[in-house]
Amino acid sequence: MNRTQPRGAYPGGTVEPLTQPNPVIIVIFGAAGDLTWRKLVPALYTLFVDGWMPERFAIVGLDLKPMSDEEFRARLRSGVDEFSRCGRPDDDAWRLFASHLSYRSADLGSSEAYRMLAGLLEEQCGRWDLDAFIIHYLATPPALFEVIPPRLAAAGLARDRTGSRIVVEKPFGRDLESARALNRILTAVFDESQIFRIDHYLGKETVQNILAFRFANALFEPIWDRRYIDHVQVTVAEQIGIEHRGAYYERTGALRDMIQNHLVQILCLIAMEPPVSFDADEIRNRMTDVLRAIRPIHPDRVHESAVRGQYGAGWISGERVPAYRAEPGVSPGSTTETFAAIRFFVDNWRWQDIPFYMRTGKRMPARVSEVVIQFRPVPHQSFPATAIRDWQPNRLVLRIQPDEGILLRFQAKRPGLRVNLSPVDMHFFYREAFRAVPPEAYETLLVDVMLGDATLFKRTDQIEAAWSIMTPILEAWEVSSPPDFPNYAAGTWIVEPAEVLIARDGRNWLMPAASPRDRDEEK
Ligand code: BG6
Repeated sequence: MNRTQPRGAYPGGTVEPLTQPNPVIIVIFGAAGDLTWRKLVPALYTLFVDGWMPERFAIVGLDLKPMSDEEFRARLRSGVDEFSRCGRPDDDAWRLFASHLSYRSADLGSSEAYRMLAGLLEEQCGRWDLDAFIIHYLATPPALFEVIPPRLAAAGLARDRTGSRIVVEKPFGRDLESARALNRILTAVFDESQIFRIDHYLGKETVQNILAFRFANALFEPIWDRRYIDHVQVTVAEQIGIEHRGAYYERTGALRDMIQNHLVQILCLIAMEPPVSFDADEIRNRMTDVLRAIRPIHPDRVHESAVRGQYGAGWISGERVPAYRAEPGVSPGSTTETFAAIRFFVDNWRWQDIPFYMRTGKRMPARVSEVVIQFRPVPHQSFPATAIRDWQPNRLVLRIQPDEGILLRFQAKRPGLRVNLSPVDMHFFYREAFRAVPPEAYETLLVDVMLGDATLFKRTDQIEAAWSIMTPILEAWEVSSPPDFPNYAAGTWIVEPAEVLIARDGRNWLMPAASPRDRDEEK
């Protein structure tokens, strides 16, 4: 993760040495889709304005939909207006950026499309009179992930193993077997070092900060283990439903959509051993060690460790929202889970028998992602019972989003003539400490792809290990339909099976930590 800010194509950029390839051509497959509009191009635009794009670059969009360059640019501008971190572009900056964008309508399953692309790339390099570094970005529906690499190879576009990279979005497979098949297809054409499998959670500042917090401070690492930690909870709650993605979500569900990738990667960062260096493979080796140490869930005992839910109609922020089964593109008898909660154990010296509870759901009351490290009680309580009526063990909360920050809960003596202890919270907020809006995950990840830094991308073995862990759950859920769906109302935290799962261990889900600001509003 050595990001040296380069001199860019935009005059406002800084003047530090250029470390990414120049020129670079980013080919976006699936450029008429939502991801390009909502995430990729707004991130690329911000990188451009901040001086991270190389002096010579081109972004070529490919998709089936017929569109002229002008229509493509107009569509992307609306996405940048709405989603870019640096706000609505001024006309001059946009014009300059838009001159790097072009679009071709193409059937990505046909060889013709790739011959056309080869011609286009040659033409562009001819204009620069230089060979460009090519980044193939697969932002397509997953069925095309298998189609595009062999077609690129057949058109001679993957011949130079040092001149290109390929970025593959999620979902990477839908189970272990399909992930393996996809890995075989990709590695037949590209070297592992050229393949960048995205998990956008790893690009989030707060997720990366888990490494900084753990390994750049001497304070926490000595107590970061089973002797001091009682358990860990990871919550990724979303207020949104499935929006217009009914067809995708029906095939996917919460386990594949969120737990197999985003939540498991967070678990790896929390549980990994200290790396020897920040080398990409060293970090990924340590993360993979965690995956390998996760205790396999016995197929007959899945119900003890993994539960699911689906939302019914309810209220979110004062608005009535429909049940999952009433969403467009969803079958009225759907058994797809929109909520999943799982208890994992990591079988190694550091974590033996310490539960990691993970939960994620759509249509929860709030959008909040956080990791709670719940410490054990003090070994001996010296204070009189009257002093510790409010006493609670220490808790550390890593707030991933929103209100990015960290909370540490400890006991303090209440002011007064008697000894009375109360828990108090110490807060750190990124925005206040650094007075900056953190970069979007896609900005970070796109820069890393250009720099060739794979630290935050998943390797073949990581992907396959993560799918292996999910296999018994996927198989058990496939053969037994949940009898009680929908089993939570939109807008509630309580999903009964998840409550039972954790209560059996004598614990409960901790309410997401309210920031002082939220609490001020509540008063
Ligand atoms: C995506 C999932 O990977 O992550 C979506 O497919 C989910 O279903 C999204 O809404 C959540 O991302 P974020 O960054 O908004 O927390």
